[in-house]
Amino acid sequence: MSEHAPNRATGAALSPTSAAAGATMATPYGTLPNASPMPQRRPISLPRLQEMRDRGEKITMLTAYDATFAAVADAAGVECILIGDSLGMVCQGLASTVGVTLETMCYHTESVVRGLRRVQGTAWVIGDLPFGSYQESKEQALRSATALMQAGAHMVKLEGGGWTTETVRFLVERGIPVCAHLGLTPQTVHALGGYRVQGRGEQAQTLRHQALALQDAGATMLVLEMVPAALSAEVTQALRTCHTIGIGAGNGTAGQVLVMHDMLGINLGKNPKFVRNFMEGCTSVREAMSAYVAAVKNGSFPDNALHAWND
Ligand code: KIV
Repeated sequence: MSEHAPNRATGAALSPTSAAAGATMATPYGTLPNASPMPQRRPISLPRLQEMRDRGEKITMLTAYDATFAAVADAAGVECILIGDSLGMVCQGLASTVGVTLETMCYHTESVVRGLRRVQGTAWVIGDLPFGSYQESKEQALRSATALMQAGAHMVKLEGGGWTTETVRFLVERGIPVCAHLGLTPQTVHALGGYRVQGRGEQAQTLRHQALALQDAGATMLVLEMVPAALSAEVTQALRTCHTIGIGAGNGTAGQVLVMHDMLGINLGKNPKFVRNFMEGCTSVREAMSAYVAAVKNGSFPDNALHAWND
């Protein structure tokens, strides 16, 4: 990147002085002066994610559910922030994500987005569609996705393959970027029989087909959760415009995601094997998040020998 972030509208370099003074930028429909300094970094967008992918740079993602942690993650260089329905477990104390409502997801999305605005954050924001908010029909999915986008998300995430493909197409055609989610899909944990590795044996072919169909339908991101490392790497190679983000899926994916509480070691129970506690050796949350970003970028996390399934 150039020394100074370019003006998004004109492409002209924006000097720190003019940025700090909150100089007016040529934005469409803008009528009010800027309330605070303009960002010094370029915002993450779909074209920027594709550029990262094309040059082989790993994409970093963390979950966040409130303003402060979102702002800290952004400051640490995390490119994508997921307001995951894992908030049901880590914030609400639920036993699974099944009880999380759309209203709750909108509340947390708004909080995250406010936090990012306060620090002129540049992260790409993904809002999770909770269980029951998209299964009924494509129209229901559109209404729910609209609510998350109006809460400030840039993209929505939904779980599953097969029947979801047409829903993804419907949303993408209407201008809503979509992240899909295959492998362990926690909203269907009861149907899956628990939090188990997915995609072994005959399931592998289904997962390959579903991933390709989701890309074809316009999904530009795909979370792969608890999938054998070799299968994730193979699917990643097969998808060029849909970026795989792994969690327990080995180091061959285009990017990685962890639940923030897990990677900060805020867990009284046992962490799953794909988690690394990045607080170890760090003295602040920001330092731990920066260590996570560095480890994903340099390929040291995840380590397939420790954090992945290889069979
Ligand atoms: O809800 C969530 O946080 C997620 C991640 C684990 C990918 O879906």
